[in-house]
Amino acid sequence: MLITEFISLSLPGLVGMLLAHVAKTVFLTDRGDEILDNCASNVDLNSEVLNYQGSIHVRELDWMGSWPPSTSSGNSTCHKSYSWTSSNVEEAERAALLVAADVIYSDDLTDALFCVLEKLMSLSPKKVLYLALEKRYNFSLDDLDVVANGYSHFRSYLRGQEDYDNLKHGSSPCFVGKCLDLSLIPQYVREYERGNDVELWQIMYNARKPNLGDSCD
Ligand SMILES: C[S@@+](CC[C@H](N)C(=O)[O-])C[C@H]1O[C@@H](n2cnc3c(N)ncnc32)[C@H](O)[C@@H]1O
Repeated sequence: MLITEFISLSLPGLVGMLLAHVAKTVFLTDRGDEILDNCASNVDLNSEVLNYQGSIHVRELDWMGSWPPSTSSGNSTCHKSYSWTSSNVEEAERAALLVAADVIYSDDLTDALFCVLEKLMSLSPKKVLYLALEKRYNFSLDDLDVVANGYSHFRSYLRGQEDYDNLKHGSSPCFVGKCLDLSLIPQYVREYERGNDVELWQIMYNARKPNLGDSCD
């Protein structure tokens, strides 16, 4: 498998570091200097053990901001700069694979994340996002019950493949998600119980369905 470019949204970045074995370029993103410093140290500390084949860039990407992020010239002498250069942005836009874990817990953040995802994933080539989550339950005064509201909000962004196939021609673009069967994925970390609230989603962005009369050229 060769992945040319790859983006990990939110750290600490172990998956991204491992993927540097097969990807030409890896972007590890989060926001705030403290977290980004921590990730950059992890990348340095593990470089001998993990022997990266591709290059890893730690970059600031705040979902509350916009895509593309503002860029710097790349001549900065400050080693702690996590800003993007325009060639970084071009590479990230070519990425085929995105991953994120445990980022579904606040509706505002979910809205901001999907806003960035829509911009990134509507660019070619076709991108796929693997998003791992654990449902978070809270007592809701509105429902007078323990509910996973954040999870429901996340699900409201997704259609199943069958729903999408049944949509009329000319319908709006949408995210199509599939919840993967975790029992098919071997578990190597022993002291951890996945539980029933852990899910792994495969998510793609489907552009508007063409009208029947639209030309294909
Ligand atoms: C619950 S932690 C998950 C961290 C890591 N992915 C994991 O599984 O351990 C949520 C992550 O989302 C990041 N985050 C929160 N708000 C963000 C924003 N506006 N833009 C980008 N990342 C954000 C946090 O800094 C944090 O790294």
